[in-house]
Amino acid sequence: MQDNHGHKISYLRVSITDRCNERCGYCMPSELQEWLPREGVLSYEEILRVVGIAAGMGITKVRVTGGEPLTRRDIIPFLGRLCSIAGISEVGVSTNGTLLSKTVPGFATTAGALLAAGVRSVNISLDTLDSEAYAATTGRDYFGRVMSGINDALGAGFERIKLNAVLMRGRSEGQLLPLVEFANEKGLLLRFIELMPVSSGDVLSESSFFPTATARRSLEEVFGKLQPRADFRTNGPASYFAVPGRDQLVGFIGAMTNLHFCETCNKLRLTCDGKLRPCLGSHLEFDLMKEIRGGASDKQIVEFIEHVVRRKPMAHDFRENYQPGRKMIAIGG
Ligand code: 5AD
Ligand code: SF4
Repeated sequence: MQDNHGHKISYLRVSITDRCNERCGYCMPSELQEWLPREGVLSYEEILRVVGIAAGMGITKVRVTGGEPLTRRDIIPFLGRLCSIAGISEVGVSTNGTLLSKTVPGFATTAGALLAAGVRSVNISLDTLDSEAYAATTGRDYFGRVMSGINDALGAGFERIKLNAVLMRGRSEGQLLPLVEFANEKGLLLRFIELMPVSSGDVLSESSFFPTATARRSLEEVFGKLQPRADFRTNGPASYFAVPGRDQLVGFIGAMTNLHFCETCNKLRLTCDGKLRPCLGSHLEFDLMKEIRGGASDKQIVEFIEHVVRRKPMAHDFRENYQPGRKMIAIGG
């Protein structure tokens, strides 16, 4: 599948819930949040149908997100079925890590159950190693849970565990080095992410913005010049650099400052309320739920997806005074 700008589409991010057990200001506003009613969210059956059809069109990788995907009931059997869809070679889960240690029927930990279901990679959000700062950022005092979640994920034996740290001025400065050291000790692939204007929270003001270039320079003061590794790519738009003298790579996701950011985009997003979005940073979205519930045939859904791919923009609108119409939590980070 290819769009009008040469992007080859092979990756679908699927948000399965708008709910979360944390309250990060950059993802959801602090005002009381009304969750979507159950019937407003795609059922597992509906999602599996869409992914099955998309797999026939060239989607090979799926990442399950939320909200916090591990808060949705019966996620493990759902993931097992997702992983067994013909043509889907890789399924990953993005999580805040707080529930990875939770026991689920048949498994000592959710991390072990994910692996057994066929999930290949987990991305865990962690912006800081200071438990108080963690509570201030996420609105919940769950730092200890995340640490044990990370350890259980390591113990389960995933191929790759990534750590995502959102950069924020006033919060990230003293955390860059500790996060790099922590990732190195644990063998995690760390990525620093620029703050994107995807929620209506006050933290998304210009004054909180912390560019990836600043983070890189600050690390270079400690380690010496980081070596660009253009040859190393995961599925996303991160640029990776090697830390001199170490077998460690660190990624930088410069969504706002990297002008080439969108060139290699291979993604579509399915929101939990059934909208297909060709780009995170564009208001374009197409109501797939309406099609599905209106009785669309597989062929009609194929045509619908093709139409969305044709509308994929060349690049996101974040630099053009983008006003978020939806909260990140409702799109799926
Ligand atoms: N800007 C950048 N990253 C964000 N995330 C959530 N909201 C934002 C934002 N406004 C990140 C989470 C998680 C990933 C799925 O998206 O921290 O790591
Ligand atoms: Fe929850 Fe992740 Fe959003 Fe934080 S960033 S509120 S952990 S979904």
